[in-house]
Amino acid sequence: MWICERVTGADLDIDEVAALYQASTLGERRPVDDRDRFARMLRGANLVITARLDGRLIGIARSLTDGAYATYLSDLAVDAAFQRQGVGRDLIRATREAAPAAKVILLSAPAAVDYYPRVGFVQHPSAWTLDPASRLR
Ligand SMILES: CC(C)(COP(=O)(O)OP(=O)(O)OC[C@H]1O[C@@H](n2cnc3c(N)ncnc32)[C@H](O)[C@@H]1OP(=O)(O)O)[C@@H](O)C(=O)NCCC(=O)NCCS
Repeated sequence: MWICERVTGADLDIDEVAALYQASTLGERRPVDDRDRFARMLRGANLVITARLDGRLIGIARSLTDGAYATYLSDLAVDAAFQRQGVGRDLIRATREAAPAAKVILLSAPAAVDYYPRVGFVQHPSAWTLDPASRLR
């Protein structure tokens, strides 16, 4: 059985995490090849849960939380070889347990649009984003 635990993002091995992102397919949608930016992503997240099986990193949930009201679940990734066994659900459970009063908010990757409703998420009709390159009017 895998073990989920809260870790400090800055302590993670960047190459190990980048390999997991690739193995999950999420690497296609995250800047894993920009080492400096990827390292800052790991360092800047204040709620990181890893799933390990016999020491091997098989899943991660990377979030930003205030611990009281909102948890933004930025990345959820499970190695394709271990998907559909409950790892993702356990990572979300551990994320919630770390900040029980906070609502979990996320933007789904296309590959996971059917996953989140399956595990209980409700689609929000008024979510908005502003890309770094977009003009603030
Ligand atoms: C999406 C993802 C994190 C799910 O993790 P997982 O460990 O495979 O999912 P779980 O085993 O916890 O699945 C829980 C349930 O959802 C189902 N499920 C898993 N992936 C699903 C999908 N893509 N669509 C619909 N249902 C899915 C499982 O079969 C399981 O069903 P059950 O309730 O009958 O047991 C994982 O598939 C993944 O890493 N995908 C690629 C990266 C990605 O798109 N991440 C999301 C970024 S926002």
